[in-house]
Amino acid sequence: MDDHVNTNTTAFQLNGKSVTAHPETGVRLSQILREEFGARDVKVGCNAGDCGACTVLVDSNPVCACLMPAHQAAGRSVETISGLYQTDDHAKDLAERFQDHGAAQCGICTPGMMVSAVALLRENPTPNVEEVQNALGGVLCRCTGYRKIIDAVIGLPANIGNIDGQVGETIRKVDGEGKVAGREAFGDDVAPAGTLEIFVIRSPFHRASFSLGDLDEFVSNSQGIEAFLTAEDIGGRNVFGVIPQFMDQPVFAETETRFRGEAVAAVIGTPEAIAKFNPETFPVSWTELPAVNDIVSAQKSTAIQLHEGRKLNVMCGGFVSSGDAKAALARADVTVEGHFNSGFVEHAYIEPEAGFAQMVNGRVEVHACTQAPVMDLDSLTIILGVDRAMTRIVPTAVGGGFGSKLDISVQPFLALGAMKTGKPVRLCYSRTESMQSSTKRHPSDIQLKIGATVEGKITGFNFYGEFDTGAYASWGPTVANRVPVHASGPYEIPDYRAESKGIHTNNPPAGAFRGFGVPQSAIAQECLFDELAVKLGIDQLEFRIINALKNNVPTVCGQVFSQGVGITECLTALRPAWLKENKNCATFNATSPAIKRGVGLAAGWYGCGNTSLPNPSTIKSGIRTDGTIVLHQGAMDIGQGANTVIAQIFATALGVPVDTIELIGADTDVTPDAGKTSASRQTYVSGNAARLSGTALRARILEHLNVASDARLVIDAGTIQANDKAGEHVFSLATLDADAEGYVLRAQETYDPPTKPLDSNGQGEPYAQFGYAAHLVVVEVDTALGTVKPLQFVAAHDVGQAINPLLVEGQVQGGIAQGLGMALMEEYIPGRTENLHDYLIPTIGDIPPIETIIIEEPDGHGPYGAKGLGEHVLIPTAPAILNAIADATGVRVRQVPATPARMRSLIIGDAT
Ligand code: FES
Ligand code: FES
Repeated sequence: MDDHVNTNTTAFQLNGKSVTAHPETGVRLSQILREEFGARDVKVGCNAGDCGACTVLVDSNPVCACLMPAHQAAGRSVETISGLYQTDDHAKDLAERFQDHGAAQCGICTPGMMVSAVALLRENPTPNVEEVQNALGGVLCRCTGYRKIIDAVIGLPANIGNIDGQVGETIRKVDGEGKVAGREAFGDDVAPAGTLEIFVIRSPFHRASFSLGDLDEFVSNSQGIEAFLTAEDIGGRNVFGVIPQFMDQPVFAETETRFRGEAVAAVIGTPEAIAKFNPETFPVSWTELPAVNDIVSAQKSTAIQLHEGRKLNVMCGGFVSSGDAKAALARADVTVEGHFNSGFVEHAYIEPEAGFAQMVNGRVEVHACTQAPVMDLDSLTIILGVDRAMTRIVPTAVGGGFGSKLDISVQPFLALGAMKTGKPVRLCYSRTESMQSSTKRHPSDIQLKIGATVEGKITGFNFYGEFDTGAYASWGPTVANRVPVHASGPYEIPDYRAESKGIHTNNPPAGAFRGFGVPQSAIAQECLFDELAVKLGIDQLEFRIINALKNNVPTVCGQVFSQGVGITECLTALRPAWLKENKNCATFNATSPAIKRGVGLAAGWYGCGNTSLPNPSTIKSGIRTDGTIVLHQGAMDIGQGANTVIAQIFATALGVPVDTIELIGADTDVTPDAGKTSASRQTYVSGNAARLSGTALRARILEHLNVASDARLVIDAGTIQANDKAGEHVFSLATLDADAEGYVLRAQETYDPPTKPLDSNGQGEPYAQFGYAAHLVVVEVDTALGTVKPLQFVAAHDVGQAINPLLVEGQVQGGIAQGLGMALMEEYIPGRTENLHDYLIPTIGDIPPIETIIIEEPDGHGPYGAKGLGEHVLIPTAPAILNAIADATGVRVRQVPATPARMRSLIIGDAT
């Protein structure tokens, strides 16, 4: 090899310091910055110029460091967010403004966003919204919905409140500074440079048999390759899954693969060897086999059966029935029916699955991005076949999850690799393998018929939905169970029948994605509600209010809430915008023949926590001799703000300012299990555990000081000072013995939502609380091109009690952006859209202004009345958009996404 040809001495300025590298030709600048100079603040989301996470300034111009060959940096000045944060006034201001506006949720896009914004502000210190959208258009964010980022960059005044951070107060995220300073360490940021890397060999076919060649010989003949992994390296069972009765997915397929992208083996080698590794040289021979890729073919008696015992590829089903839906539909004055379809939706978090593992004192430690550290530990215990105490999970920061990081991904490869080599190993999925192998939102095929009386009362509702759960179960059973419970929407429907099925195909596993099937069923239900109202001649909003669920009225599961049902308030809150925007659209359309505007609305509900199953959270807290208050907070913060919200709840219960609390995050060695971050459960369930822990700790303090229950506490510098009506009391913490963890006072409390099982008709008490939402949207449709542009959203959400209103807004805006993507552009097609330029997600230019209306109908079970929020935020979005399209054009969309091509064919079809 000719070094002169292949390496380039490259000297440049990095954040004001002279550095020299010797990159081989073609090595990316991002690679050199991250691995040679430790600039892990340069994030890599795609390595293809699609996401902008890697944006740095080169001679003050924003460039994607993943697209720039490193040698082109020679003689130039390269600036990254960590350097800018130290020295650049615009970056320092932006860092404050990003925190004040909650513009960084998970934070993985934040370096790219801020670097791009610095470049803009250097040229134009007072940009307008459009200028910000243009300048930041190349950086994707999957969490925020972009509007908070725009607010921060244009310098909109923020509304940060009382620094005590009690429940109800808007404060910055308690962990926000690391995100804006470029210090947040995600899954691929924690391994030391030079760590051995893993490359996973995956099936190129939807279904294939395969045989492996002589892998020992392959390793010994491959320079820098140290080991391989196959199913034979698994000491325990070669299986994983999130629901014990449905565990069916192998870590490595053994003889046959069931979906494109399934792992069969892995190689472990030096970074240089893995960088040059050509998977074509790996000794595996494939035989492509016939596959089923749709749920109709999969249910034919002649179809291949993916799993024994799951006849006709039906994984399982769900069912809810109350009253007599058939008889009620027969006597209805008016009926509507429809057949609705949706495709796979990809989570598209900007951080691909990544992590690092090492052996420490004979134990394996896995540091990876995850939404469920204790579930990861459970899975690895089964796979590795070692005592549970021999594994430790230490989650990294999570660059977006939205449900998919509930399932294990890199963890078994990392653990097996560290155990086999005895050395540290790392693995970061490429964007393509992330998209091929991670779970997706279930495609749906739904038939629904609804009846009503002339007065507008629903009479009869018959729902049947099939969901493509892909090759393995993942969260498919949860989707099958949740959908019939939620398909009614938040309405009173006495005569109701809903049935669902999860069907296996040779597609990627479908799993959890914000809503567990409910966004799909809401499209059918809310679109037909609109049609029904129109058919009856009743205003669509009033029709929903007539039928809205109320306190003391049974749900379709026969559950009766005596308090906390806030859907009427959500719908009523939209009335002023509904009346105004209907008028505005009519005025606009009167003089616009081709561009048409419409307004649409939809509602939604979501049961917080597991369906009729225990899902406890435990929160531990303690006080050290020096007065430090420590909160062991194991609820994974994946950007939604659990660290802040749970700390605010705990601080309120204990009666101290939130900034006096030291957080210790999830770590299976030191922090109790706060359950998984899913199903909108953390604010409600872990929040309650935090409230109980704070209350118990306070009770211990009051007892020691013998003071009144309303005493004001100051805990500091080794003392607790309490003030009550009797005066001031001071207690020295040094008088107490510290326990093994150094705590002189401690409290550990658990909360588990009270639910009751569902019977064979789905009757019971599936959730202790629901959250409620209603969205309104105005869209503009170019009837010649078929394009749909949302112009304005108004979103009303009943959150019971907003623990931190800024974070509520952030969740709502981010959810709306994902709902917009689902409605208009996102469709994952295995083998065709396996990257972020073929799979489109909304950009900063796609999200219009969003007005968030917070409704607080307190829930008796929630901490301080709070309800969960994470899933509700996108459930009404897609049907509201489809209803607005119908209002604008008269076209009823039955299949999402409503791409321009689909819209055009509907418009033409409608016209002929
Ligand atoms: S990592 Fe460079 S654009 Fe995505
Ligand atoms: S905050 Fe932008 S991707 Fe998470």
